[in-house]
Amino acid sequence: MENKNLTVRQTLSQIVSSAFEACGYDPELGAVTVSNRPDLCQFQCNGALSAAKRYKKNPAIIAQEVAAKLQEEPILAKAEFVPPGFLNLDVSDAYLIERACKMDSDVRLDLPCAEKALSIVVDYGGPNVAKPLHIGHLRTAIIGESLVRLARFLGHKVVGDVHLGDWGLQMGLIIEGLRAQKPELCYFDETFGGPYPSEPPVTLDDLNELYPAASARSKTDEEFKAAAQKATGELQNGRPGFVALWKHFLSLSVTDLKKSYAKLDVDFDKWLGESDAAPYVDEMLGILKDKGLSYVSDGALIVDVAKEDDEEEIPPIIIEKSDGSQLYGTTDLATILQRERDFDPDEIWYVVDNRQSMHFKQVFRCAHLAALVPEETKLMHIGFGTMNGKDGKPYKTRDGGVMRLSDLIATVTDAAREKMAESATASVLSDEEAAACAEKIGIAALKIGDLINHRTKDYIFDLDRFLASEGKTGPYLQYAAVRIHSVLEKAEAQGFTPGKLLPPASDTERALLLSLSGVGDTLLRAFSDHAPNGICEALFDLTGLFNRFYYENKILTCPDAAQRDSWLKLISITERMISLLLSLLAIQVPEKM
Ligand code: ARG
Repeated sequence: MENKNLTVRQTLSQIVSSAFEACGYDPELGAVTVSNRPDLCQFQCNGALSAAKRYKKNPAIIAQEVAAKLQEEPILAKAEFVPPGFLNLDVSDAYLIERACKMDSDVRLDLPCAEKALSIVVDYGGPNVAKPLHIGHLRTAIIGESLVRLARFLGHKVVGDVHLGDWGLQMGLIIEGLRAQKPELCYFDETFGGPYPSEPPVTLDDLNELYPAASARSKTDEEFKAAAQKATGELQNGRPGFVALWKHFLSLSVTDLKKSYAKLDVDFDKWLGESDAAPYVDEMLGILKDKGLSYVSDGALIVDVAKEDDEEEIPPIIIEKSDGSQLYGTTDLATILQRERDFDPDEIWYVVDNRQSMHFKQVFRCAHLAALVPEETKLMHIGFGTMNGKDGKPYKTRDGGVMRLSDLIATVTDAAREKMAESATASVLSDEEAAACAEKIGIAALKIGDLINHRTKDYIFDLDRFLASEGKTGPYLQYAAVRIHSVLEKAEAQGFTPGKLLPPASDTERALLLSLSGVGDTLLRAFSDHAPNGICEALFDLTGLFNRFYYENKILTCPDAAQRDSWLKLISITERMISLLLSLLAIQVPEKM
C-alpha cells in the first residue's frame, strides 16, 4: 500500500481510513491532519466526531474502535483515543528514519509529484514599457516566481509570461511627448519611405523622463491628450513610423527590465506583451458579436457579465470605447485566446494586485461566456495585498512619489552592506565580494519580508526588521544555511563522512526528522493555496530545529563515531532540504556571512 509518492500525512490518512472502513464507517472520515497541539501528538484525526453525528453513535466508542484497529500498525508509535472523540497519532521513530533514508537516496528528497501534470500559464510581472518598474511590481515578481518554481517542481508544465504593458495609451503619450521635443524626426513624417534608423532616437533616461512628463501634461492639456489617444490608435493600426518608434522604446525598456528582474532572480519563459494579443483582437470581437454577447450602449461596446445570484454588483465589461479605442479588458480577452492557441493551458494564473479583482472577474466571466477557453479551463486571479509604509499607506519615496524597484533594491543592498560592516566576516571579504554578498542579503531580506505574509495580506515595509539576524527574516535563513554548510565542510576536512541514520537520540532530533518529513505536505498545500508563505514557515521550522539540534549536540567531537556519522547524515539531508526550499523561493545564499 506504500506508494512512493505519498506524503507522511497522506500515508497516515490511508491507514486511518482503512481502519474506519474496517470498523464499518465511511473511509473518508479517516482524514489525518498535522496536530494543532504538537505538545500532545504529531498528527490527529477528528473523524469520529463527524461519524458520531452520521451514525448516531457515541464518538468515544467510534474513536476507541478505530484506535484498537490501529494498534498493530507498524508505522504508528501511538494511536490514542482522547475524549470526546479525537484520535491522537504519533509515527514510530523507525518510520521517521525510513522516510529520511528515502529522502537521502532520492534527488527529489522523497517529495511528492502532482498526480496529474497540468499545463499552467502564469501571468506575472506585468511591467509597463517605458514606465519604470515600481514597487507594485515587486510582489507579483516575488510571489509569481516562487509559484512558478513550486508548480514546476511538482511536475506541472509551466509557462511564465511577463505580459508587458506595451500597447496602451502610455505608448501614444510617449510618442506625442517626443514629437513635441523633436518634431523633425523621420518617425513623424508620413511621407518618409524608410528605412528607419536602427539606433533609437532617445536614451533610456530620456524615455523614463518622457512618460511622466507626457502623462502629467495630458492631465491638463486636452489637445495633447487627444493627440496621444490618436497616436495610440495609429500605432495599433500599424502606422510605420510609430511602429518603428515603438520598437525602439520596447527594446530599450526590455533591456532595462531584464536587468532588474535578473537582480531579483526572476526569470520569465516568455517575454510576450499586450501587443502580442493584437492579432487576436478582431477574432475575439467577432466571437463576442456572433454569440450575441456584445452590444452598443452609450456608444461603447459592452458585454453583460452579471449573474442573478451575484452578491455584489458586477458591471458590464467595456470592450471598445465610443472612439473605437480598446481597453485593458480587450487586451486581456484577446490574450486569453492567444494563450489558448499557443499553450492549450488547463489553468491560467494571474498574479496581480487585489485591487484589480473586479477587472479579472469581468474578464474571466466574459471569456467563459464566449467560450474563448473550454469550460473546464481555470482562469484564476491570484491576488495580493499591498506593501505599505509605516503610515499604513502604499509605500512611497521620501518625496511622496512611487518608489522605483531599482531604487528599492539599491536601498536594501546599501542597508545590508552597512549592517555587514558591523560583522567580523566583512573584514575578510574583498570589496567586490562584500558588494555581491550585500546584494544577496538585501534581496533575501526583501523577499522573506514579503513572502512570510500570506499573499492576500498587506504588510509594512520595515527594513530594520527585514534585515534583522533574529526572527523570521531572510538573513536568519541564509545564516543557518551557511552554518550547516560549514559544519559539513569541517566534517569533511576531518575525514568524517555521513553514515547510517540511527534512531533519534533526543526530542529535538525527532522533531527535526518530523519537520523534514512534513515538507511534502507543505508543498502540496502551498500549491493548492497558491501561497508560498507555507514554504517560508517550513524553512523557519527546519532552521530553528537545526539550530537547536546543533546547540544541543557536539557533533564533530562526539566520541561515538556511528552517532557522529548519523548526525552528519541528518544534517546533510537538512542542508539539501533547506537549499531546495530556498531555491523555490528564488533566494540565494552567500558563501560567507
Ligand atoms: N501592466 C499591468 C499593471 O501594471 C499589469 C498586468 C497584469 N496582467 C494582466 N494580464 N492584466 O497594472
